[in-house]
Amino acid sequence: MSLTGKHIIVGITGGIAAYKTATLVRLLVKSGAEVQVVMTPNAKEFICPVTLSTLSGKPVISEFFTANTGQWHSHVDLGLWADAMVIAPATASTIGKMANGIADNMLVTTYLSAKAPVFVAPAMDLDMMAHPSTTRNIALLRSYGNHIIEPAEGELASHLIGKGRMEEPENIVKVLDDFFKAGKPLAGKQVMVTAGPTYERIDPVRFIGNYSTGKMGYAIADEAARLGAKVVLISGPVAIKPTMPEVEVIEVESALEMYEQCQRHFGDSDIAIMSAAVADYAPAEVADKKIKREKEEIPQIRLVKNPDIAASLGKIKRPGQILVGFALETNDEEVNALDKLKRKNLDMIVMNSLRDAGAGFGTDTNKITLYSKDGQARKYPLKSKKETASDILDNIVGMVADKD
Ligand code: CTP
Repeated sequence: MSLTGKHIIVGITGGIAAYKTATLVRLLVKSGAEVQVVMTPNAKEFICPVTLSTLSGKPVISEFFTANTGQWHSHVDLGLWADAMVIAPATASTIGKMANGIADNMLVTTYLSAKAPVFVAPAMDLDMMAHPSTTRNIALLRSYGNHIIEPAEGELASHLIGKGRMEEPENIVKVLDDFFKAGKPLAGKQVMVTAGPTYERIDPVRFIGNYSTGKMGYAIADEAARLGAKVVLISGPVAIKPTMPEVEVIEVESALEMYEQCQRHFGDSDIAIMSAAVADYAPAEVADKKIKREKEEIPQIRLVKNPDIAASLGKIKRPGQILVGFALETNDEEVNALDKLKRKNLDMIVMNSLRDAGAGFGTDTNKITLYSKDGQARKYPLKSKKETASDILDNIVGMVADKD
């Protein structure tokens, strides 16, 4: 089983389903995991700590200090020790605290310190579950990259029937097992991704930019992290965040800043995926004061060429490094994409055409054709950007396997 030797924090909160968590601890230990139970003070009203310390073979942690010795329990050390944290049952109150960083107990402080993936198994009455506040807090947890183990439908402690029953311990173990089992073909590889637009300053309040939202590049960064890679995401100004907490984001504004960061990180990268919509030109001079309207003459903005980041990396690429570019085209798609593939010394280019509905900037979908250096073309139907990222990475994983 993939759980053998894994360090798992089981967080228990004050809900009636806490009795089932004894079985969860037992099953995890049976699967070979080392389990540390952390309980909220309320959880102790529902299940006795002695049961859990006996099943896990470790004293249960609930307070910041052990009362009689004054020993401090380090949530930071616990957070680093864990390979996964699972909070089951997670009450509406704890979910709200986790979503909003209210660290008033050992469980929430440990959660905020945890570097490992976090799994949350909500359990509550159906009206609490359906309340907009709960929905919002669960959405926030998802946006932090936490995995929600959806509650099942059935008879609840209140005898009402609906959604809110904590998932069965056997199924929670399966979710964890599947997570650790999932293929990590990019483990040990570093992937650099560029994403979003660049902004080229005109004056303190204006810039030249484009409509890129970064969705495609962020989906690629998330997928690469999911496949086990260490990911450095060099991002222009966007309104989104990666879902995978492991992705390291380096924020830049201009093409020149993006160029510098790419030059800095490319050497350590095995794979670079250039999905940013880099501005080709920047104003030659940046006005230090706002350009005013009441001027005699209409101002002229003189432009200078930005560096071609992908091409600059193509020039210094070592054997074994994989460089992937994008081509967003409006016409002569194949000719333009193949020209860029060659000109920038890329190993693969992802072509999307603005002539295809659902492809390009701002959409949640994309329709791509992949051209590789060896002349192969692969056409994909319209898919979500997440699925598109997975298709792109499947091809890259194949290229890595050929090179290794
Ligand atoms: N690119 C880059 N640096 C630039 C311009 C583009 O790294 N200054 C990268 C993009 O991230 C993409 C690829 O090069 O991976 C192609 O970008 P695109 O804008 O389609 O091509 P350009 O070379 O700018 O050509 P054109 O604008 O004429 O189509």
